[in-house]
Amino acid sequence: MVTLRRTARSKWWWVTALLLLGLAGALIALALSWRPAIAPIAPPSPGSFAPAQVVRGAMLVKLGDCAVCHTRDGGRPLAGGRPLATPFGTLYSDNLTPDPETGIGTWSAAAFRRAMKAGVSRSGAHLYPALPYEHFTHVRDADLDAIYAFLMTRRPVREAAPANRLIFPLGFRPLLAGWKLLFLHPGETPVDPSRSAEWNRGAYLVEGLGHCGGCHTPRNLAGGEIRSQAYAGGIAEGWRAPALNAANPAARKWTKEALVTYLRTGISPDHSAAAGPMGPVVDSLSQVPEAEVRAIAAYIVSKMGGSPSAPVAPLPDHADAAARRFPEGAVLFGGACAGCHGPGAPMMGQGRPLLSLATVLRDSDPTSAAQAVLQGIAPPVAGRGPKMPGFADALTDQQIAAVLGYLRARYTDRPDWKKLPATVAKARKEGAQP
Ligand code: HEC
Ligand code: HEC
Ligand code: HEC
Repeated sequence: MVTLRRTARSKWWWVTALLLLGLAGALIALALSWRPAIAPIAPPSPGSFAPAQVVRGAMLVKLGDCAVCHTRDGGRPLAGGRPLATPFGTLYSDNLTPDPETGIGTWSAAAFRRAMKAGVSRSGAHLYPALPYEHFTHVRDADLDAIYAFLMTRRPVREAAPANRLIFPLGFRPLLAGWKLLFLHPGETPVDPSRSAEWNRGAYLVEGLGHCGGCHTPRNLAGGEIRSQAYAGGIAEGWRAPALNAANPAARKWTKEALVTYLRTGISPDHSAAAGPMGPVVDSLSQVPEAEVRAIAAYIVSKMGGSPSAPVAPLPDHADAAARRFPEGAVLFGGACAGCHGPGAPMMGQGRPLLSLATVLRDSDPTSAAQAVLQGIAPPVAGRGPKMPGFADALTDQQIAAVLGYLRARYTDRPDWKKLPATVAKARKEGAQP
């Protein structure tokens, strides 16, 4: 009896001790995640920045795609409020104009650098990695200061971003400190002295401001980039960003020149068109000096490896076999697509890539092929090239799956995609968000 009571009491003692320990641990974690606010400043006068620094900042803002995420449909440039769908809910970008109340008007250069490199707002709140600080952390201070100079000399816009809508408990920002411990790797991109200055410039831009890996690298369940699989292909806004390493699925090996053309115009005659979220990237890159894009291309082509001068295989076109296996797809293609993509179509006479060159049909993941048909393709650089209409309203998921199965069988030598109708349905849902 006595022993029993003692065991019961000692058990409660342990439970209490564990609870207290847990509470202490949580308090320590909270304390460790705490970051101080940086004192507000009086908005600096636009005249206090050197004009050359502002001009440089404008170029760097293009390279970083800041306006792509920080401008909502129909909104003023950089005034924020654009919804970004993530697997964890919807985030809204902040106002980057120098409005003192709703923008960054009272931010010092130091506060701005901390946000970009450590993902901490001026108030001390942790920021979500939707602001790609996994990459911006590698940007040099002089470049961040130029971006700051550009932003602070814009016209202030008074507009507050809507509140984020995240699944519980991810709205609790201190949790992000733990995330950063695991996935934020600060430090400058190392210089490789055995490579050219151009290659090293490319490495700096791609790993940093360009944040190409933000879309082209796969992510783990917590949303962190899997660094051991850098550039192995990822997911962006319901599209698939193909591998940019040796696993790149393009039919013709990319050359540096082809990449420059693609990144500046949105199309390479021997490869593909830049559709979906790659469109705004190209739109930005079409507006920066060509030397910067050449550097990016030099670095990317080295990641892809291999020799572009290897024997060029003939392009597949198994029209009859594909029609036998996918009769519905063949009929749909003849009716809805061949007017543009078929042999002898007027569009094909203008140096457009054959569908047997399209990366999206060769990729192991059919997501972007499905999105291209659902949403269509707009020429990314205003006024250049024909466009493809979206078929989301005209064709059912089943029909789109039929035509994609047909195209894969006709224009590639790769195995059939599995579960196509389900992929199309998922792509339709994600493409419509948020
Ligand atoms: C992929 C989309 C994306 C890109 C590209 C992007 N941002 Fe953001 N940014 C966001 C989102 C989303 C937030 C809000 C994060 C949050 O609420 O925690 C944000 C927040 C910020 C903040 C914090 C503002 C505040 O009030 O706390 C700053 C500063 C910022 N971004 C600057 C930039 C700059 C400069 C660039 C370009 C070099 C840039 N961002 C590019 C999505 C983006
Ligand atoms: C916002 C997400 C996003 C960012 C950032 C991004 N990409 Fe892409 N990229 C994509 C998507 C999606 C595609 C597929 C487009 C398609 O289906 O036409 C793509 C396609 C490409 C292709 C074509 C590959 C092929 O074989 O067809 C290249 C090359 C490329 N991106 C290079 C880059 C470079 C270089 C950067 C950085 C400067 C970059 N991307 C940044 C999303 C992104
Ligand atoms: C009005 C003309 C037009 C029609 C109709 C059309 N397309 Fe396209 N398609 C284009 C253009 C333009 C491109 C961009 C590449 C290019 O310029 O060749 C494209 C590209 C593609 C690509 C490659 C996407 C990429 O990222 O490179 C696929 C796949 C495709 N179309 C499938 C289809 C299918 C399937 C249909 C019928 C359901 C169809 N297209 C109907 C004009 C058209």
